[in-house]
Amino acid sequence: MGIGNRKGQDDMNQNIDFGKINLNEQPPLSEPERQYYFIAKCRQWTDHFEQENARRPRACVFNMGCQMNARDSEKLRGVLETAGYELTEDENADFVIYNTCTVRENANQKVYGHLGLVSNYKKKNPNMKVALCGCMMQEAEEVARIQKSYRFVNLVFGTHNIFKFAELLWTALDSDRMIVDVWKDTDRIVEDLPAQRTYSFKSGVNIMFGCNNFCSYCIVPYVRGRERSRRPEDILCEIKRLVADGVKEVMLLGQNVNSYGKNLDEPITFAQLLRRVEQIEGLERVRFMTSHPKDLSDELIAVMKDSKKICRHLHLPLQSGSTEILKKMNRRYTKEQYLALVDRLRAEMPDLSITTDIIVGFPGETEEDFQETMDVVRKARYDSAFTFIYSKRTGTPAAAMENQVPDDVVKDRFNRLLALVQEIAQEMSKRVEGQTLPVLVESVNEQDDSLVTGRLSNNLLVHFPGGSELIGTIVDVYLKECKGFYYIGEKSET
Ligand code: 5AD
Ligand code: SF4
Repeated sequence: MGIGNRKGQDDMNQNIDFGKINLNEQPPLSEPERQYYFIAKCRQWTDHFEQENARRPRACVFNMGCQMNARDSEKLRGVLETAGYELTEDENADFVIYNTCTVRENANQKVYGHLGLVSNYKKKNPNMKVALCGCMMQEAEEVARIQKSYRFVNLVFGTHNIFKFAELLWTALDSDRMIVDVWKDTDRIVEDLPAQRTYSFKSGVNIMFGCNNFCSYCIVPYVRGRERSRRPEDILCEIKRLVADGVKEVMLLGQNVNSYGKNLDEPITFAQLLRRVEQIEGLERVRFMTSHPKDLSDELIAVMKDSKKICRHLHLPLQSGSTEILKKMNRRYTKEQYLALVDRLRAEMPDLSITTDIIVGFPGETEEDFQETMDVVRKARYDSAFTFIYSKRTGTPAAAMENQVPDDVVKDRFNRLLALVQEIAQEMSKRVEGQTLPVLVESVNEQDDSLVTGRLSNNLLVHFPGGSELIGTIVDVYLKECKGFYYIGEKSET
């Protein structure tokens, strides 16, 4: 197979005999059976391609966004592989699909850069098919731009109908026109489609889709739609299947996991879901992302504290330390409430790693507001922080706000924030030096193949001498030396 790190196939489709699907009949109307039908049709097409070209057609899924996007890309790869494509990381393929992000303006610019590149490949291989999907395709202006200026693109779809990918793929293979199918929203969740995992031993698991928070700077609620939770039975069933297939660690994914389950017919809290996930035998580690501070319950803190499996890491986006700016951001917590939450977490779990996201230069941010952010960073003492320059997103309330901050002022604040964040993160990372802690080994070290690289429960990386046979296992490692943001260790003999 083409892709170097191809490791695991979620086995929902293992029992389906695609050869037995009768393609002379009309496609079924129910899902996922309809998609299985189109996978079978694509398989026929790829078999034919192989007869003509003496090789399988190659497909590249290029992921450009967050963990949610990455998980969606695994689903795209699952369909493509089941349809008979050979997966590759080379964009110069027979089918290339860009799974786009739009959270900040530079994410959009990146897409157009890639389209420029791929148009040259397509000139040399006119049968190549180019597709775009993901968050950016939910923006009508971007789709209009592609329809006008990027006529060589064959297929465009968004986040809501990704479950229809097999059908859309077939339509694109069967047509010379540009196929555009973007849904405004959906309340559907289709289960049991194939997915191709990047790692054999860990996997993302969607527990919910969409977001109802409407932070005033954020485009996500517009491109990912309203919040919808998967049923707990479906989530547990997926995780059990993953564990049976060798998965040790799952990352539960949602834009705001703390509001999981509120809208289900039988409501359940995120903490209750975690309790049930924790009981799955053979599963060793549980992570989750992302927590909104306003919804983080004491029940969740208690479940984390009692748990042997839930990792000692919490991503708790701050966005700003100024209560005034937080209000304009529609975050629904104050500086004091946020700091009190961090204190509670640290008191209950002293070894917890807390990480965050911070935006600099939100409209109307003054030097005093910025100093409030610096103050929270000093007090919360993050183990690491993603810092972003505010990016104006068309259609969001913040885009229409006055007092946009000049670029040079933002840049200066950004640099000061980054320096502080890094100084504190280095001190925090050092906390576990000299301890022996379990590490899930993820890969052979890229620079030095006598080393392997793994992850601590608190999410820090550790490099230590070892071979590829350790990949996917959890081993105790003595943390000899902290090198800033990672460790050099030694496998413990006991
Ligand atoms: N500008 C800059 N950063 C943003 N984020 C979301 N929207 C914007 C924006 N318009 C950041 C937030 C969020 C992270 C995923 O991206 O910090 O937590
Ligand atoms: Fe992820 Fe948001 Fe980017 Fe979509 S827009 S890929 S949800 S970060």
